Amino acid sequence: MTIIVTGGAGFIGSNFIYYQLREHPQDRIICLDSLTYAGNLSTLEPIMKERNFRFEKIDITDRKAVHQIFEEEEPQVVVNFAAESHVDRSIEDPEVFLRTNVLGTAVLMDACRKFGIKRYHQVSTDEVYGDLPLDRPDLFFTEETPIHTSSPYSASKASADLLVQAYHRTYDLPVTISRCSNNYGPYHFPEKLIPLMIANALQDKPLPVYGTGENVRDWLYVEDHCKAIDLIIREGTVGEIYNVGGHNEMANIDIVKLICKELGKPESLITYVTDRKGHDMRYAIDPTKIHNELGWLPQTKFEDGIKKTVQWYLEHRTWWETIISGEYQNYYEKMYGNR
Ligand code: NAD
Ligand code: TYD
Repeated sequence: MTIIVTGGAGFIGSNFIYYQLREHPQDRIICLDSLTYAGNLSTLEPIMKERNFRFEKIDITDRKAVHQIFEEEEPQVVVNFAAESHVDRSIEDPEVFLRTNVLGTAVLMDACRKFGIKRYHQVSTDEVYGDLPLDRPDLFFTEETPIHTSSPYSASKASADLLVQAYHRTYDLPVTISRCSNNYGPYHFPEKLIPLMIANALQDKPLPVYGTGENVRDWLYVEDHCKAIDLIIREGTVGEIYNVGGHNEMANIDIVKLICKELGKPESLITYVTDRKGHDMRYAIDPTKIHNELGWLPQTKFEDGIKKTVQWYLEHRTWWETIISGEYQNYYEKMYGNR
């Protein structure tokens, strides 16, 4: 089958493409990515010439270009990873989040309606559920938890989810949605917590922890997310939402201390900085549905996954050093200069 993967030059999309080509070599993957600051073609370099892979630099809001690809490739499945994905950037400038995350989703689904499709899969996030309090460890996000967003990022992702459900109800588009917790692993852009702390620690730079560092995220190794999406597009029920997470809650400060330990760096690098506006306190996924219906369980334990990730950043210095030597410098100064 032919699968269009949007946002495949980013973190999770690229891991998904590698996963697909390995697990389903008979399938053809068409990657559409506009190569924003977060897209990196060097990530896909090793497969650029594979006969069952095609890359096209296309913006998912570009209706004409998207339609042309559908006409040429006649895909059976679309998996939409393309998004503006960083909460801090959404707080600075929400507009592009609306354009890519909401309008882009509509453009892709319109193409699916016009050309026909077996499945449109929307890669969403647990952030659409808002946050949970720290003093109620018994509470988890289920698929029935009401949408209650905090940041422009999560609001744009929730808007897209609503649109996906509307296209299912109104046009009978065969959709599925996955809502995953925080991912970590190879090719993670160094603006996000884990790769930023690894890159800074390796340069003996301060490690900027927002607020008190008590905020909790539920971390999942990226390959486990890829496996979940793969199962959903092949065996999931049309019209359904699946939460994806591995019951691995950790406070930010504990993650940063662990990274110091793994790299043999002193905790004195840790610097507490002004908190993020509207900062979500705790995310925690209940993955019972995907486990019961599709048999999904995470394979990588956090203690192994974080070791593999740290090792990957040690072995791929050129990948992240190239990123942080460019426009990233201005971003870092703007976000952290006076924090
Ligand atoms: P990322 O920022 O690393 O990558 C996004 C990719 O999308 C980049 O390659 C970028 O060039 C591309 N892109 C952006 N705008 C585009 C446009 N208009 N047209 C075409 N391509 C465009 O993001 P990520 O962390 O890999 O996240 C992928 C998806 O997974 C997103 O939809 C995100 O909301 C979701 N998600 C992420 C996490 C996480 O922890 N990172 C968790 C749950 C869900
Ligand atoms: P992030 O990786 O941006 O993911 P998200 O906000 O989507 O969960 O941030 C993870 C957590 O780490 C979040 O609570 C904010 C915090 N954080 C810091 O303390 N310092 C930083 O420099 C960054 C980027 C994040």
